[in-house]
Amino acid sequence: MPASPSATPDHIKDVNTRYHDAAAESYDAKWGIDFSEIGQKQVELKAVKALGDLPAEPWGDALEIGAGTGYFSLNLAARGLIENLTATDISPGMLSSLSETADRIGVPVRTVVSEAEILPFDDHSFDIVLGHAVLHHIPDLERAFGEFFRVLRPGGLILFCGEPSRHGDRLAILPKWAGSVAAPAWRRLIRARALEHTEEELAEDEYNLEPEVDVHAFAPDDLKAIALRAGFTSTRVRGEELVANVWGWGLRSMEATAVPETVPVRWRNFAFKSYLSMQKIDTRVLEPRLPAELFYNLLLSARKGP
Ligand SMILES: C[S@@+](CC[C@H](N)C(=O)[O-])C[C@H]1O[C@@H](n2cnc3c(N)ncnc32)[C@H](O)[C@@H]1O
Repeated sequence: MPASPSATPDHIKDVNTRYHDAAAESYDAKWGIDFSEIGQKQVELKAVKALGDLPAEPWGDALEIGAGTGYFSLNLAARGLIENLTATDISPGMLSSLSETADRIGVPVRTVVSEAEILPFDDHSFDIVLGHAVLHHIPDLERAFGEFFRVLRPGGLILFCGEPSRHGDRLAILPKWAGSVAAPAWRRLIRARALEHTEEELAEDEYNLEPEVDVHAFAPDDLKAIALRAGFTSTRVRGEELVANVWGWGLRSMEATAVPETVPVRWRNFAFKSYLSMQKIDTRVLEPRLPAELFYNLLLSARKGP
């Protein structure tokens, strides 16, 4: 759900910082973020879909925008696709979680707290600027893309995945609703306990600010046009996940109503495997045939220079 149209850019950035700081500790568990080979293959697949192919050599200097806890760039680096990683985010809390994970999985990374619209880096510092699920939070995208262009070396790439499409945002309403309706019966079936929030929890930023953090949902042409206006060429937008997303939102809406520790591992395995099966249908059957705007996520890539 987007922030109110009257929200100022400073308000949106403040809300994003506070919400993500509060969410950082439980973020990976909430979104099922994984840094094993499974997570690495997932992000590699996204890069392949966005770019059409992977480069023969790893990217040298990579800058991630809105890196969060590191899902995208730490996994790409662990997969051997990035040599030198700089991870930025407006939320210090998210970056400290990212640093802990980077230490744990042995990926060297420089972290810098920074908002996307004002990047504290010299011109021509990076070979690739990338991000996952971040563009839709940024109030002034023209300014941010101007910064991406400035800090890239000639020939450098932008690679953004996981951006909500307008159609996908509307489509997700249905499984979210169905999941919450089915939740009591589902909890009884798997013998999970209902999650009840205390008044203190309900007063916390993580619960109250969620409806205000998103500012955009995109049509493919919107993303292309922003990149072109910033000076990029070879722009390419692809759509990703349709049935996987409908299924995933349904499952997630049910699971969000249960105390996590009471959800049996067998259920979690089933949920994850079924999601991967749906993803295969999307990847092999639907994504090559249907227009990008029909999918839940959009993937954008473009180049600085011819
Ligand atoms: C939905 S999370 C995605 C995090 C991570 N990329 C992932 O895919 O798991 C969005 C991230 O963007 C960051 N963010 C929001 N607004 C931002 C801005 N204006 N500049 C930089 N980062 C921002 C948030 O703090 C948060 O970590």
